[in-house]
Amino acid sequence: MKEFLLDLIKRAGDLTLEYRARLESLSIDHKSDKDIVTEADRAVEDFIIDAIRSRFADHAIFGEETGKTAGNEFCWVIDPIDGTSSFVHGQPYYSVSIALQQNGTTILGAVNVPVLGDIFCAEKGKGATRNGIPVQASTRDRLVNCHLATGFACLRSNFGYNNLPFLSEIAPVVRELRMYGSAAADLCYVACGLLDGFWELNLKPYDVAAGSIVLEEAGGKITDFTGSFERMDYEILATNGFIHDSVVDVFIGVRNTINGTMPLSEFAE
Ligand code: 2AM
Ligand code: CA
Repeated sequence: MKEFLLDLIKRAGDLTLEYRARLESLSIDHKSDKDIVTEADRAVEDFIIDAIRSRFADHAIFGEETGKTAGNEFCWVIDPIDGTSSFVHGQPYYSVSIALQQNGTTILGAVNVPVLGDIFCAEKGKGATRNGIPVQASTRDRLVNCHLATGFACLRSNFGYNNLPFLSEIAPVVRELRMYGSAAADLCYVACGLLDGFWELNLKPYDVAAGSIVLEEAGGKITDFTGSFERMDYEILATNGFIHDSVVDVFIGVRNTINGTMPLSEFAE
């Protein structure tokens, strides 16, 4: 399965590059005011699904653009282009993300960042690799030395409970912040130590499934903003493990402040 996945994600990444070469003529649709989908997203997802179906006809599939198809206990979770907005702007930081889950647990994942030439892969219990070479998360343990990335998927949903208060509390206590635009890639760059942490709200399973196993297999940690696993549908905090509690401390403080001032309807989709 791993060889199949690696070959598939390589070819899917190459296909995105073909569309990237003719960006000006790409047709773009709006899912909402701020949310876009291109013919490249759809074509790459179709390509991935066709390859999976022809090899594993009875597996379930959950793709960003086509939704869920029922199957046996195996389910492929696909984001054909994670970072569509970057892709459309001709920026290099987008990725293809594919995970394989068995009874809801991710057992295999791969993320291809084709313009940067990085293919990340991880299998449960067997470690994570970047272009075939094992990777480990960083060991920085003081926020003041750390680079953290984030994103603003939440603002596209126009929620009151969003990233702005978290950003303003964490910004002064870290060395640098980055906002690259692909959650799947961000998780992988935490996995190999280029970033020390990443957080975001309102991501979807296909944004994070593959990147999460890559990071966990590289020794990193992923929870919600309180350090538990209960609200990971709404909040993802991913770090090298060493700074996790420090970020949780900051975020719990922010949540306590917000709790009293915002209606509960703003906290869930
Ligand atoms: P996408 O490009 O596949 O949509 C950037 O902040 C991250 O958020 C990307 O991983 C992006 O994935 C995701 N994202 C963008 N819009 C989103 C939305 N409306 N809901 C959930 N995730 C979104
Ligand atoms: Ca995505």
